[in-house]
Amino acid sequence: MDKEQDAIDLLKSYGQNHIINLLKKLDEVKKEELLEQIEKIDFGQIMELYDNTKKKIEIKENKIESIPYLDKAKLREEQKTKFDKLGEEIIKSGKYAVVTMAGGQGTRLGHNGPKGTFKLDVYGKGKYLFEILKDNLEEANKKYDTVIPWYIMTSKENNQATVDFLEKHNYFGYPKEAVTIFTQSELPLVDTEGKLLISKDMKIKEASDGNGGTYSSLRASGCLADMKNKGIKWVFIGGVDNVLLKMADVTLLGMAVDKGVQIASKSVVKANPHEKVGVFCKMNGHPKVIEYAELPEKMAEEVDYDGELKYGESHIMCNLYTIDAIEKASKEPLIYHSAFKKNSYIDEEGKEIIPTEPNSYKFESFIFDAFEFFDDIAILRGKREDDFAPVKNREGVDSPKTAKELYEKYWNRQNRKN
Ligand code: UTP
Repeated sequence: MDKEQDAIDLLKSYGQNHIINLLKKLDEVKKEELLEQIEKIDFGQIMELYDNTKKKIEIKENKIESIPYLDKAKLREEQKTKFDKLGEEIIKSGKYAVVTMAGGQGTRLGHNGPKGTFKLDVYGKGKYLFEILKDNLEEANKKYDTVIPWYIMTSKENNQATVDFLEKHNYFGYPKEAVTIFTQSELPLVDTEGKLLISKDMKIKEASDGNGGTYSSLRASGCLADMKNKGIKWVFIGGVDNVLLKMADVTLLGMAVDKGVQIASKSVVKANPHEKVGVFCKMNGHPKVIEYAELPEKMAEEVDYDGELKYGESHIMCNLYTIDAIEKASKEPLIYHSAFKKNSYIDEEGKEIIPTEPNSYKFESFIFDAFEFFDDIAILRGKREDDFAPVKNREGVDSPKTAKELYEKYWNRQNRKN
């Protein structure tokens, strides 16, 4: 009873009366489950994050500078050879691992199931996003005569569906013992009035807390320790939804080694000044990615002496870290951003509501917010047509249609070369 009363007092103080009403309607087992969940939730933190959604984010321009990068297409031949050799040595000696972040909800795509289980309509037969990633790793394994350990991050919401899918497809032929699936942490979803959403199983609805959770989840899941046991020195972390993602780019890896940095990233130049991507810069002397919504318009359009966008290097979730960098990032708290998304929920009458427009805030930390813990980053500019074909939206830009076109064009070019 005390536990229940404590929960009721807590919920009242945070204006969550609808959860009190729900609590009263539940049977003993369900009630106990909800009480346990309530105990674990930091309501103060959630309400602070909700209040922040109403504040305007301000960036002081004078603290920001552009960031140096190397253009892969313009490297001198001996420079490229040197980088490639350094990178190859690491991969060949089994010191390289890859992490795929597959814990997102994929709300914009609206596919029923984890995003990696989406089948892209390529070359008639089609390929699943997980299969496309597997192809890329398999190609690297063949080239460097190794088996790259592959870690896949899921959310509590999509973990079972991901495991079932990969099992059913026998990991698309990737050696099963080299695949590790781990799950990331979650936070409650909040509606526009600051009320926590209720899920179908009569609990507070939670969702993965952003791809910034990768670092701490790698540590909490034991994957970081596992990597250390395996002698891994460099870790690639990438998204699940870029069908041209190169997960074992020896030039990028070698460049990072050559420059003696702890983190490196592949960028592509912005398609236009107002493309909705985050861009690299230096803030207070540290590497940083500014989200498109947070970049002042004047800066978005600024060009340098060569007429190139000053803040034109987009972050495409193609990042590389030393194992020590992962360890460091896993121990530092990251800030949370809010994203306004469509999330179904159970209303006070017990009816499921499936919104057609965004209705709730999801709080997410971003993978790139850890960059500022480091003094430097090596950035290699890739090519959009070789490196970036994301599947984000159902239609229009960055949709299955655009990704299919880019994927097929890329592979037609490669096949012509071979
Ligand atoms: P996005 O930010 O594009 O989010 O994720 P999303 O969930 O895939 O799609 P929307 O915004 O709901 O439509 C970029 C990458 O980060 C992963 C995604 O799976 C994708 O690979 N991610 C995102 C996570 O692993 N966990 C998260 O909590 C969020």
